[in-house]
Amino acid sequence: MPKFSFRSLFSSSEKESTSAKPVDVGEFYNQTTDKFLAVYGEIIQAFRTNDVTKYLDYTAQSARLADGMTVIDAGCGVCGPALHFADKYPTIKIEACTVSSVQVEKANERIAAAGKQNQIAVTEGDYHKLNKTYPNSHFDRVYFLESFGHSNDKRTLLNGVWDVLKPGGMVYIKDLFRRISSDEWEQLHIDHICGQINKAYCYHIADLNAILDILRSKGYILHFVKIPEVEVSEFEHLSISNDFQNLFDIGKIESWNDYVFPIDFFEILAEKPRFNTEAEKHLYFMNRK
Ligand SMILES: C[S@@+](CC[C@H](N)C(=O)[O-])C[C@H]1O[C@@H](n2cnc3c(N)ncnc32)[C@H](O)[C@@H]1O
Repeated sequence: MPKFSFRSLFSSSEKESTSAKPVDVGEFYNQTTDKFLAVYGEIIQAFRTNDVTKYLDYTAQSARLADGMTVIDAGCGVCGPALHFADKYPTIKIEACTVSSVQVEKANERIAAAGKQNQIAVTEGDYHKLNKTYPNSHFDRVYFLESFGHSNDKRTLLNGVWDVLKPGGMVYIKDLFRRISSDEWEQLHIDHICGQINKAYCYHIADLNAILDILRSKGYILHFVKIPEVEVSEFEHLSISNDFQNLFDIGKIESWNDYVFPIDFFEILAEKPRFNTEAEKHLYFMNRK
C-alpha cells in the first residue's frame, strides 16, 4: 500500500514559500504601489478601521508616540502614516525609510504638498541596515506598520533596531503572524495559504514565538503583545482585502463556511533597557518601571 501522509497533499506549499530579498521587495513595490494606492489609499495596511485616521490615532497611542520624539518609520510606504503623525505631533521628527524608489518619489511629493519637510525625511534603503544609515543610540521609537513581515532576516533587523534606539527607546511592530492550530490538518492548510501569501506579496510571515525569542534573547524588555483593539463597529469590512486580493487572485474570502484564517494580527512593544544591566545588575528590575 502506498504511504499516505497529510504533508504529501500539500507538497506544493514548499514551492510556494519565498526567497524574496529586500531588492525583490523594492521591485515588487515599484511595480505595485499604484495598485495598492488605488485600493488602500495612502495607508497601505490590511488591518484598519473604516475611518483609517482613527486606526492611526490608535497606533500612535499603542506605540506611545509623543511630541518631541525622534522616530524611524521602517517601511514607510508613501508616508501616509508619517504624515498623520506629523500633523498630530507638531514637534515629532520622523526618519522614514522604504526600499522602493517609486515610494520615495511619491512620499516626497506628499511631504512637499503638506509642507512637512521640516518633520519628515525619506530615505531609500534597506531597513536591515538601519544602524549604518542612521545615528546609533539616537531614536525614541522605531516602528513597523505591516512592513516587518517583509524581512528575510528578522534577527539582523532587530539587532540593527537595537543599535539605533536610545536606552529607553522602543520598537513597535504591528503585523500579521502565522496562525497556530492544534489540528494538524488545519495547520497544513494554514501553512499552505501562508506560503501563497508570502509568494504573492514577497513576504516572510513571522512566527510570533520566534520573534518574542529574538527580542528577549537580545535583551529587549517586552511591554506587551496584543491584538489590535478596535471597536467592532469601526472595523473595516474584510471586503477591502478582497478588492485587493482580486488584483493578485489569492486568499479571497468566497464563503465563510470552510474559510480558514491563515494569520493573526498582533502588536508588539519592546524596549531597549534604560540601564546597562550587565554593568549595573542591581538595576535589572528597575528597567521595568
Ligand atoms: C505594506 S507596506 C506598509 C507601508 C506603510 N507602513 C503604511 O502603513 O502605509 C510595506 C512597506 O515596507 C517596506 N519595506 C519592505 N521591506 C523593506 C526593507 N527591507 N527596507 C525598507 N523598507 C521595506 C516597503 O517598501 C513598503 O513601504
